[in-house]
Amino acid sequence: MYLSKEEEGTLAGEEGESRRKAMELVVALGKIYGAEDLIEITSAHLSGASYKTIGDGGLKYLEDMVKGKAEISVPSTLNPVGMDRERWKEMHISPAFAEKQLKIIELYKEMGVQATCSCTPYLGDNVPSLGDHVAWAESSALSFVNSYIGARTNREGGPGALAAAILGKTANYGLHIDENRRPTAVIDAEIDGSVFSYSMLGQAVGMAIGGGIPYFRNVNPTVDDAKTMSAAMAAAGSVALYHVEGVTPEAGNFDVSGLETISIGKKELKDAYDKLNTAEDVQLIALGCPHLSKKEMRDIASFLKGKKKKNKDVEIWFCTSSKIREECAEEVRIMEEFGPVLADTCMVVAPIEGTFKRTGTNSAKAGNYLPTLCSQNVICRDLTKLMEVVL
Ligand code: F3S
Repeated sequence: MYLSKEEEGTLAGEEGESRRKAMELVVALGKIYGAEDLIEITSAHLSGASYKTIGDGGLKYLEDMVKGKAEISVPSTLNPVGMDRERWKEMHISPAFAEKQLKIIELYKEMGVQATCSCTPYLGDNVPSLGDHVAWAESSALSFVNSYIGARTNREGGPGALAAAILGKTANYGLHIDENRRPTAVIDAEIDGSVFSYSMLGQAVGMAIGGGIPYFRNVNPTVDDAKTMSAAMAAAGSVALYHVEGVTPEAGNFDVSGLETISIGKKELKDAYDKLNTAEDVQLIALGCPHLSKKEMRDIASFLKGKKKKNKDVEIWFCTSSKIREECAEEVRIMEEFGPVLADTCMVVAPIEGTFKRTGTNSAKAGNYLPTLCSQNVICRDLTKLMEVVL
């Protein structure tokens, strides 16, 4: 793998220990995946932010990085953390957890990371452009920016994305290279066009294609549809890039005539739905996976306006970024009659398993992860049907 003189110097420790460690990791990944050289990036998005997911080992790693004077060198945002920074008591979080979580956020800040803590930074805080090379972790977000925006990132892990953020460079392999962005199968989809149908489509395609690159026909996803579909495909499979005919910016670059066609219709959508539904009732309804957009906040508020929460035993959480919570004061007022609008956290990275056993969601991604990461049985339905439980 080719390294410039300067990069060799970084690897030899000439720019300090934390940059040496970062270079060592990026070069090791590059060697594993056959990179020829390093490539400059314009931004990073980091996962590994919740104390629940990184634990004391992750906290110590971040402390060591800060002690070694690690500093990021490109704009970098952070994924959701394990609690709302102000309203953690409403989430049944213990003071011990809160203390460590706040420490993690501070450590990232000390490295220069913008601690906005959202999985939808592409809605405002960190928006790459077509053709930008970036290093993003968070499977839903990196799939969205790869596909809907046409930026270029591999499916980075937390430490790899942090190392790339420190260097301003990543190893040049995988989805950074034109040839590797070719679709591997055509998806002929028949859905009703609702946002929930895009979530189920993502689930069905992820189950069918695993880590391939789907090329969709007959669908026209909006930003919110693509947001939920990206998340679903990344969770049900490991899709990091897809193309949509007539919608995504690189779709027209490929001849797909010889590719296998996978049809997704009623049967496949029902199989996807059945896989995610494992509960009869719920104790918590959690919306906002990925984090709610402004339009989704408006849609939920207008759906709830004038209604009353009848089933007081079921808690409702709405998850979004602090920026969107601030910008949607009127919607927040309506939604708060039903449950807290939580910022910068979510139902999966929060330690909900200490409080709940059965959770309702309208997200296929949450439907995949709630059983494995939070020991939950799940109801996964569209918003209207989900809310019938409490209205
Ligand atoms: Fe975001 Fe949490 Fe879902 S990080 S994509 S809301 S699992």
